[in-house]
Amino acid sequence: MAGPTRPAVAAEESAIARLEVLPASEWARTVAGWLIVRLEQRPDLRVCLPTGDTPSPVYAELVAAEWMENASLAGATVVLLDEWLGLAPGDPGRSDVRLEDDLVGQLQGGVRRFARFAVDGPDGAPLAGAALAAAVAAQDAEAEHLDLVLVGIGGNGHVGFNEPGSTPSSPTRAVELEPTTLEGAVARYGAAARPTGGLTLGLDRILAAGEVWLLVTGEHKAAILREALEGPETSACPASFLRRHPRLTVFADAPAARLLAAPGQA
Ligand code: F6R
Repeated sequence: MAGPTRPAVAAEESAIARLEVLPASEWARTVAGWLIVRLEQRPDLRVCLPTGDTPSPVYAELVAAEWMENASLAGATVVLLDEWLGLAPGDPGRSDVRLEDDLVGQLQGGVRRFARFAVDGPDGAPLAGAALAAAVAAQDAEAEHLDLVLVGIGGNGHVGFNEPGSTPSSPTRAVELEPTTLEGAVARYGAAARPTGGLTLGLDRILAAGEVWLLVTGEHKAAILREALEGPETSACPASFLRRHPRLTVFADAPAARLLAAPGQA
């Protein structure tokens, strides 16, 4: 592994010009390189991270860089973006397990804090009622004053688990998930059971962060990325609301960007 591609900080302003289209082979290294820049600029970075197939290669690059002592998250606070409901503690499909396996648990120096949704009842029973509300409120409090939020995009335009129907003011909350999202937990992430729902940071929290990065890879995301960047801002595609953020950067690989009318000017 050649290691993350470190952008010259002087190039920063152009990266904040919203859309970075990268060759698929350089995508993960470049995104990791930018993350390392942010960690160098602010060692106590408060960063919200997603799980899933899109960010995994970025985390692998980051872990390799940390082992080579080219990066440190030891001062960073990592806030998990979302979590499934109805999966047992330790289920490989769980978001907390995946982020631990992909990143947090792989780091020599660890992180200062890893904040995740406290979804497990004392006996492993699913949370409900006041206990569920408390778990939501606690993670929402962790997500105040985020410096940076990384998000992926679902095939239906969701961001985190802000499914279609969400608005820019949607709060951190428990949500019903669309069948395709639930099926993905089993089919794509190896969950042992079909989840019953999810918890997500709200679009309100995401849009209040200092900076937002939308990570998108693969030809199968090309149509939804076009909808998110070039279609109307609409609850039918919650990712379209990310355009309201003054410091949004879209990191797309070339296959994901192939349907954009004007790559380079999202
Ligand atoms: C996961 C999350 C989801 C995913 C989205 C894309 O924490 O927030 O919104 O980012 O479903 O998933 P992948 O990257 O697996 O295609």
